[in-house]
Amino acid sequence: MFNREYIMTPGPTPVPERIIKAITSKEALLPAYGKIYGEDLELVKKLVDADGKAIIIGGGATVGLEATLASLIDFKDKVLALSAGFFGDALYKMVKYYSNNVYVLRAEAGKTVSVSEIKKFLNEHPDTKFVTLTHCETTTGALFNLEEISEVVREISDAKIIVDCVSTVGAVPISLRKGHADAVVFGVQKVLNMPPGLAVIVLGNNALEVLETRQCESYYLNLKMWLNFWEERGYLPSTPPVNLLHGLKEAINIIFEEGLENVFKRHKKVSEVIRAYLKELGLRLVIENDNIASPTITAFYLPKGVSDKLFIEHLWSKFRVFLAKTYGDLEGKAIRIGHMGSSATMDYVYITLIAITSTLKNLNLVPSLRHIPVEYFTF
Ligand SMILES: Cc1ncc(COP(=O)(O)O)c(C=O)c1O
Repeated sequence: MFNREYIMTPGPTPVPERIIKAITSKEALLPAYGKIYGEDLELVKKLVDADGKAIIIGGGATVGLEATLASLIDFKDKVLALSAGFFGDALYKMVKYYSNNVYVLRAEAGKTVSVSEIKKFLNEHPDTKFVTLTHCETTTGALFNLEEISEVVREISDAKIIVDCVSTVGAVPISLRKGHADAVVFGVQKVLNMPPGLAVIVLGNNALEVLETRQCESYYLNLKMWLNFWEERGYLPSTPPVNLLHGLKEAINIIFEEGLENVFKRHKKVSEVIRAYLKELGLRLVIENDNIASPTITAFYLPKGVSDKLFIEHLWSKFRVFLAKTYGDLEGKAIRIGHMGSSATMDYVYITLIAITSTLKNLNLVPSLRHIPVEYFTF
Protein backbone atom coordinates (compact mmCIF):
# COMPACT_ATOMS: atom_id res chain seq x y z
CA MET A 1 0.00 0.00 0.00
CA PHE A 2 2.91 2.34 0.69
CA ASN A 3 5.42 2.17 -2.10
CA ARG A 4 8.21 4.38 -0.86
CA GLU A 5 10.24 4.58 2.30
CA TYR A 6 10.21 7.36 4.85
CA ILE A 7 13.41 7.29 6.86
CA MET A 8 12.66 9.43 9.91
CA THR A 9 15.73 8.65 11.96
CA PRO A 10 18.11 11.10 13.59
CA GLY A 11 20.85 10.01 11.18
CA PRO A 12 21.92 8.66 8.91
CA THR A 13 19.22 10.52 7.02
CA PRO A 14 17.93 10.00 3.46
CA VAL A 15 20.46 11.04 0.83
CA PRO A 16 18.92 13.21 -1.92
CA GLU A 17 19.50 12.41 -5.59
CA ARG A 18 21.67 15.51 -6.10
CA ILE A 19 24.10 14.34 -3.42
CA ILE A 20 24.18 10.79 -4.80
CA LYS A 21 25.04 12.26 -8.21
CA ALA A 22 27.77 14.42 -6.69
CA ILE A 23 29.48 11.58 -4.84
CA THR A 24 29.33 9.24 -7.81
CA SER A 25 30.29 11.77 -10.48
CA LYS A 26 33.41 11.15 -12.57
CA GLU A 27 35.18 14.07 -10.92
CA ALA A 28 34.40 12.73 -7.43
CA LEU A 29 36.12 9.46 -8.28
CA LEU A 30 39.38 11.13 -9.32
CA PRO A 31 42.23 11.22 -6.79
CA ALA A 32 42.76 15.03 -6.68
CA TYR A 33 41.12 16.70 -3.71
CA GLY A 34 42.90 20.04 -3.17
CA LYS A 35 40.33 22.24 -4.91
CA ILE A 36 37.23 20.61 -3.45
CA TYR A 37 38.75 20.45 0.06
CA GLY A 38 39.50 24.20 -0.06
CA GLU A 39 35.96 24.96 -1.24
CA ASP A 40 34.43 22.80 1.49
CA LEU A 41 36.47 24.56 4.19
CA GLU A 42 34.90 27.89 3.22
CA LEU A 43 31.39 26.39 3.04
CA VAL A 44 31.50 24.72 6.46
CA LYS A 45 32.75 27.96 8.03
CA LYS A 46 29.83 29.81 6.44
CA LEU A 47 27.42 27.25 7.88
CA VAL A 48 28.46 28.12 11.44
CA ASP A 49 29.25 31.80 10.78
CA ALA A 50 32.94 31.48 11.58
CA ASP A 51 36.03 33.42 10.60
CA GLY A 52 38.52 30.95 12.06
CA LYS A 53 39.76 27.75 10.41
CA ALA A 54 38.16 24.45 9.50
CA ILE A 55 39.49 20.92 9.23
CA ILE A 56 37.67 18.02 7.57
CA ILE A 57 38.77 14.52 8.50
CA GLY A 58 37.70 11.12 7.23
CA GLY A 59 35.75 9.27 9.94
CA GLY A 60 32.64 9.60 12.10
CA ALA A 61 31.87 12.77 14.02
CA THR A 62 33.45 11.05 17.03
CA VAL A 63 36.87 11.35 15.36
CA GLY A 64 36.31 15.09 15.06
CA LEU A 65 35.29 15.35 18.71
CA GLU A 66 38.25 13.37 19.94
CA ALA A 67 40.68 15.28 17.69
CA THR A 68 39.39 18.58 19.08
CA LEU A 69 39.80 17.45 22.69
CA ALA A 70 43.22 15.87 22.02
CA SER A 71 44.46 19.01 20.27
CA LEU A 72 43.13 21.70 22.63
CA ILE A 73 43.06 20.30 26.17
CA ASP A 74 46.11 20.04 28.37
CA PHE A 75 46.07 17.27 30.96
CA LYS A 76 46.03 19.82 33.81
CA ASP A 77 43.19 21.92 32.39
CA LYS A 78 40.00 22.12 34.41
CA VAL A 79 37.07 21.12 32.22
CA LEU A 80 33.36 21.39 32.86
CA ALA A 81 31.39 18.83 30.85
CA LEU A 82 27.65 19.43 30.46
CA SER A 83 25.57 16.37 29.74
CA ALA A 84 21.90 15.86 28.98
CA GLY A 85 22.23 12.14 28.30
CA PHE A 86 23.97 9.45 26.27
CA PHE A 87 25.99 11.65 23.86
CA GLY A 88 26.80 14.22 26.54
CA ASP A 89 28.05 11.36 28.71
CA ALA A 90 30.15 10.04 25.81
CA LEU A 91 31.76 13.46 25.40
CA TYR A 92 32.44 13.61 29.14
CA LYS A 93 34.07 10.16 28.99
CA MET A 94 36.18 11.29 26.05
CA VAL A 95 37.32 14.43 27.89
CA LYS A 96 38.55 12.23 30.75
CA TYR A 97 41.17 10.77 28.39
CA TYR A 98 42.64 14.26 27.90
CA SER A 99 42.26 15.95 31.29
CA ASN A 100 42.52 14.66 34.83
CA ASN A 101 40.56 17.63 36.14
CA VAL A 102 37.06 17.12 34.75
CA TYR A 103 33.73 17.95 36.39
CA VAL A 104 30.34 17.05 35.05
CA LEU A 105 26.94 18.66 35.42
CA ARG A 106 24.30 16.22 34.24
CA ALA A 107 20.64 16.83 33.54
CA GLU A 108 17.96 14.20 33.95
CA ALA A 109 16.41 12.77 30.77
CA GLY A 110 14.37 15.34 28.88
CA LYS A 111 16.08 18.34 30.45
CA THR A 112 19.24 20.38 29.93
CA VAL A 113 21.61 21.71 32.57
CA SER A 114 20.27 25.09 33.72
CA VAL A 115 22.23 28.28 33.21
CA SER A 116 22.05 28.94 36.96
CA GLU A 117 23.83 25.62 37.68
CA ILE A 118 26.54 26.52 35.15
CA LYS A 119 26.88 29.98 36.68
CA LYS A 120 27.19 28.51 40.17
CA PHE A 121 29.89 26.05 39.05
CA LEU A 122 31.91 28.72 37.25
CA ASN A 123 31.70 31.11 40.17
CA GLU A 124 33.17 28.36 42.34
CA HIS A 125 35.70 27.37 39.62
CA PRO A 126 36.64 30.54 37.72
CA ASP A 127 39.86 28.81 36.57
CA THR A 128 37.84 26.48 34.31
CA LYS A 129 39.62 26.26 30.96
CA PHE A 130 37.00 24.49 28.85
CA VAL A 131 33.27 23.89 28.82
CA THR A 132 32.15 21.00 26.64
CA LEU A 133 28.59 20.22 25.66
CA THR A 134 26.35 18.50 23.17
CA HIS A 135 24.17 21.16 21.52
CA CYS A 136 21.31 18.74 20.94
CA GLU A 137 21.26 15.52 22.94
CA THR A 138 20.22 13.28 20.06
CA THR A 139 18.81 10.56 22.34
CA THR A 140 16.18 12.88 23.85
CA GLY A 141 16.02 15.93 21.57
CA ALA A 142 17.03 18.32 24.38
CA LEU A 143 18.61 21.48 23.01
CA PHE A 144 21.07 23.58 25.04
CA ASN A 145 20.77 27.34 24.58
CA LEU A 146 24.21 28.32 23.28
CA GLU A 147 23.54 32.04 23.44
CA GLU A 148 22.70 31.99 27.14
CA ILE A 149 25.44 29.54 28.06
CA SER A 150 28.18 31.36 26.17
CA GLU A 151 27.15 34.67 27.73
CA VAL A 152 27.50 33.24 31.24
CA VAL A 153 30.78 31.45 30.45
CA ARG A 154 32.33 34.63 28.96
CA GLU A 155 31.12 36.74 31.89
CA ILE A 156 32.68 34.59 34.60
CA SER A 157 35.69 32.83 33.08
CA ASP A 158 38.11 32.58 30.16
CA ALA A 159 36.92 29.08 29.42
CA LYS A 160 36.74 28.05 25.78
CA ILE A 161 33.52 26.40 24.66
CA ILE A 162 33.67 23.16 22.67
CA VAL A 163 30.34 22.10 21.20
CA ASP A 164 29.23 18.84 19.64
CA CYS A 165 26.82 20.18 17.00
CA VAL A 166 26.31 16.84 15.30
CA SER A 167 22.51 16.94 15.27
CA THR A 168 22.01 20.69 14.86
CA VAL A 169 24.33 22.16 12.25
CA GLY A 170 22.25 23.41 9.33
CA ALA A 171 18.99 23.40 11.31
CA VAL A 172 19.69 25.57 14.35
CA PRO A 173 21.53 28.91 14.23
CA ILE A 174 25.11 28.70 15.50
CA SER A 175 27.55 31.58 15.25
CA LEU A 176 31.21 31.40 16.18
CA ARG A 177 31.54 35.05 15.23
CA LYS A 178 28.95 35.93 17.88
CA GLY A 179 30.86 33.82 20.40
CA HIS A 180 28.32 30.97 20.82
CA ALA A 181 31.27 28.56 20.76
CA ASP A 182 35.03 28.49 20.22
CA ALA A 183 35.14 25.09 18.56
CA VAL A 184 32.32 23.16 16.94
CA VAL A 185 32.31 19.62 15.63
CA PHE A 186 29.81 17.86 13.43
CA GLY A 187 29.31 14.93 11.10
CA VAL A 188 27.55 15.05 7.76
CA GLN A 189 24.94 12.28 8.05
CA LYS A 190 22.29 14.30 9.89
CA VAL A 191 20.86 17.63 8.68
CA LEU A 192 23.27 17.66 5.72
CA ASN A 193 21.80 14.38 4.40
CA MET A 194 25.14 12.90 3.43
CA PRO A 195 26.26 9.31 3.88
CA PRO A 196 28.45 9.09 7.01
CA GLY A 197 32.21 9.38 6.71
CA LEU A 198 33.34 12.98 7.27
CA ALA A 199 34.02 14.80 10.53
CA VAL A 200 34.08 18.60 10.41
CA ILE A 201 35.83 20.76 12.97
CA VAL A 202 35.60 24.55 12.95
CA LEU A 203 37.88 26.48 15.29
CA GLY A 204 37.30 30.13 16.13
CA ASN A 205 40.19 32.50 16.73
CA ASN A 206 40.23 31.88 20.51
CA ALA A 207 40.57 28.14 19.97
CA LEU A 208 43.28 28.68 17.35
CA GLU A 209 45.31 30.66 19.89
CA VAL A 210 45.07 27.76 22.35
CA LEU A 211 45.94 25.27 19.61
CA GLU A 212 49.23 27.07 18.96
CA THR A 213 50.36 26.47 22.55
CA ARG A 214 49.50 22.77 22.67
CA GLN A 215 51.55 19.65 22.18
CA CYS A 216 49.21 16.93 20.92
CA GLU A 217 50.19 13.36 21.77
CA SER A 218 48.40 11.83 18.79
CA TYR A 219 49.11 11.71 15.05
CA TYR A 220 45.73 11.32 13.29
CA LEU A 221 44.00 13.45 15.95
CA ASN A 222 46.49 16.32 15.84
CA LEU A 223 44.57 19.26 14.36
CA LYS A 224 47.62 21.52 14.30
CA MET A 225 49.31 19.02 12.03
CA TRP A 226 46.25 18.83 9.72
CA LEU A 227 46.24 22.63 9.43
CA ASN A 228 50.00 22.80 8.86
CA PHE A 229 49.95 20.15 6.14
CA TRP A 230 47.17 21.94 4.31
CA GLU A 231 48.55 25.45 4.68
CA GLU A 232 52.21 24.65 4.02
CA ARG A 233 52.02 21.78 1.55
CA GLY A 234 48.52 21.93 0.05
CA TYR A 235 47.70 18.33 0.92
CA LEU A 236 46.63 16.37 4.00
CA PRO A 237 48.37 13.85 6.29
CA SER A 238 45.78 11.20 5.39
CA THR A 239 43.78 10.76 2.19
CA PRO A 240 40.25 12.08 2.68
CA PRO A 241 37.17 10.34 1.21
CA VAL A 242 37.36 12.47 -1.95
CA ASN A 243 33.90 11.55 -3.24
CA LEU A 244 32.31 12.61 0.06
CA LEU A 245 34.05 15.98 -0.18
CA HIS A 246 32.20 16.49 -3.48
CA GLY A 247 28.95 15.43 -1.82
CA LEU A 248 29.51 17.87 1.04
CA LYS A 249 29.78 20.83 -1.32
CA GLU A 250 26.50 19.83 -2.96
CA ALA A 251 24.83 19.25 0.44
CA ILE A 252 25.75 22.72 1.69
CA ASN A 253 24.81 24.32 -1.62
CA ILE A 254 21.36 22.74 -1.34
CA ILE A 255 20.97 24.48 2.03
CA PHE A 256 22.22 27.84 0.80
CA GLU A 257 19.96 27.68 -2.27
CA GLU A 258 16.95 27.43 0.04
CA GLY A 259 18.51 30.03 2.35
CA LEU A 260 19.88 29.18 5.77
CA GLU A 261 17.22 31.23 7.56
CA ASN A 262 14.46 29.47 5.60
CA VAL A 263 15.94 26.09 6.48
CA PHE A 264 15.96 27.04 10.18
CA LYS A 265 12.31 28.13 9.90
CA ARG A 266 11.31 24.92 8.12
CA HIS A 267 12.82 22.76 10.87
CA LYS A 268 11.10 24.81 13.56
CA LYS A 269 7.72 24.61 11.85
CA VAL A 270 7.99 20.85 11.34
CA SER A 271 8.97 20.33 14.96
CA GLU A 272 6.04 22.44 16.19
CA VAL A 273 3.55 20.47 14.09
CA ILE A 274 4.92 17.11 15.27
CA ARG A 275 4.90 18.16 18.93
CA ALA A 276 1.35 19.54 18.76
CA TYR A 277 0.01 16.47 16.97
CA LEU A 278 1.66 13.91 19.25
CA LYS A 279 0.28 15.73 22.28
CA GLU A 280 -3.15 15.66 20.65
CA LEU A 281 -2.75 11.89 20.28
CA GLY A 282 -2.25 11.67 24.03
CA LEU A 283 1.41 10.72 23.74
CA ARG A 284 3.86 12.11 26.28
CA LEU A 285 6.77 14.03 24.83
CA VAL A 286 10.21 13.46 26.30
CA ILE A 287 10.94 17.20 26.10
CA GLU A 288 8.05 18.89 27.80
CA ASN A 289 9.46 22.40 27.68
CA ASP A 290 9.09 23.86 24.16
CA ASN A 291 12.05 26.17 24.79
CA ILE A 292 14.52 23.29 24.90
CA ALA A 293 12.96 21.16 22.15
CA SER A 294 15.39 20.66 19.27
CA PRO A 295 13.84 21.37 15.86
CA THR A 296 15.57 18.24 14.54
CA ILE A 297 14.36 15.42 16.82
CA THR A 298 11.18 14.58 18.69
CA ALA A 299 11.20 11.73 21.18
CA PHE A 300 8.03 10.43 22.76
CA TYR A 301 7.28 7.89 25.47
CA LEU A 302 5.67 4.65 24.35
CA PRO A 303 2.30 3.74 25.79
CA LYS A 304 2.49 1.26 28.69
CA GLY A 305 3.09 -2.33 27.65
CA VAL A 306 4.36 -1.54 24.13
CA SER A 307 7.95 -2.29 23.27
CA ASP A 308 10.02 -0.01 21.06
CA LYS A 309 10.80 -3.00 18.84
CA LEU A 310 7.10 -3.77 18.25
CA PHE A 311 6.16 -0.15 17.59
CA ILE A 312 9.05 0.47 15.20
CA GLU A 313 8.50 -2.81 13.36
CA HIS A 314 4.80 -2.09 12.94
CA LEU A 315 5.48 1.37 11.52
CA TRP A 316 8.01 -0.05 9.13
CA SER A 317 6.14 -3.12 7.91
CA LYS A 318 2.78 -1.38 7.44
CA PHE A 319 3.77 2.13 6.44
CA ARG A 320 7.45 2.02 5.43
CA VAL A 321 8.04 4.72 8.05
CA PHE A 322 11.26 4.17 9.95
CA LEU A 323 11.61 5.68 13.43
CA ALA A 324 14.54 5.12 15.77
CA LYS A 325 14.84 3.50 19.16
CA THR A 326 16.74 5.49 21.72
CA TYR A 327 19.71 4.87 24.01
CA GLY A 328 20.79 5.71 27.50
CA ASP A 329 18.28 6.54 30.25
CA LEU A 330 15.26 6.16 27.97
CA GLU A 331 16.22 3.00 26.10
CA GLY A 332 13.08 0.91 25.61
CA LYS A 333 10.85 3.62 27.07
CA ALA A 334 10.78 6.15 24.25
CA ILE A 335 11.29 6.30 20.49
CA ARG A 336 12.50 9.11 18.27
CA ILE A 337 11.41 10.86 15.11
CA GLY A 338 14.29 12.47 13.27
CA HIS A 339 13.22 15.44 11.15
CA MET A 340 16.41 16.65 9.59
CA GLY A 341 17.24 18.20 6.26
CA SER A 342 15.26 16.45 3.54
CA SER A 343 13.00 14.65 6.05
CA ALA A 344 12.01 17.93 7.71
CA THR A 345 9.25 18.51 5.20
CA MET A 346 5.49 18.30 5.62
CA ASP A 347 5.04 15.32 3.26
CA TYR A 348 7.37 13.20 5.41
CA VAL A 349 5.78 14.57 8.56
CA TYR A 350 2.16 13.90 7.58
CA ILE A 351 2.87 10.32 6.57
CA THR A 352 4.75 9.79 9.82
CA LEU A 353 1.97 11.21 11.96
CA ILE A 354 -0.73 9.23 10.18
CA ALA A 355 1.37 6.08 10.53
CA ILE A 356 1.80 6.68 14.27
CA THR A 357 -1.95 7.30 14.68
CA SER A 358 -2.80 4.16 12.79
CA THR A 359 -0.23 2.10 14.66
CA LEU A 360 -1.76 3.15 17.97
CA LYS A 361 -5.16 2.10 16.63
CA ASN A 362 -3.87 -1.20 15.22
CA LEU A 363 -2.23 -2.03 18.56
CA ASN A 364 -5.51 -1.28 20.31
CA LEU A 365 -4.08 1.76 21.99
CA VAL A 366 -6.89 3.97 20.85
CA PRO A 367 -5.54 7.47 20.75
CA SER A 368 -7.40 10.13 22.61
CA LEU A 369 -7.97 12.20 19.51
CA ARG A 370 -10.57 14.80 20.15
CA HIS A 371 -10.62 16.64 16.86
CA ILE A 372 -9.34 14.21 14.25
CA PRO A 373 -11.49 11.20 13.35
CA VAL A 374 -9.26 8.19 13.90
CA GLU A 375 -11.01 6.23 11.14
CA TYR A 376 -9.48 8.54 8.53
CA PHE A 377 -6.07 7.28 9.50
CA THR A 378 -6.82 3.59 9.84
CA PHE A 379 -5.49 1.50 6.99
C1 LIG B 1 25.12 14.36 19.36
C2 LIG B 1 25.96 13.30 18.74
N1 LIG B 1 27.27 13.27 19.00
C3 LIG B 1 28.07 12.34 18.46
C4 LIG B 1 27.58 11.37 17.63
C5 LIG B 1 28.52 10.34 17.06
O1 LIG B 1 28.64 10.57 15.69
P1 LIG B 1 29.34 9.46 14.75
O2 LIG B 1 28.49 8.27 14.86
O3 LIG B 1 29.34 10.08 13.39
O4 LIG B 1 30.71 9.26 15.28
C6 LIG B 1 26.22 11.34 17.34
C7 LIG B 1 25.66 10.29 16.49
O5 LIG B 1 24.47 10.13 16.36
C8 LIG B 1 25.40 12.34 17.91
O6 LIG B 1 24.09 12.35 17.65
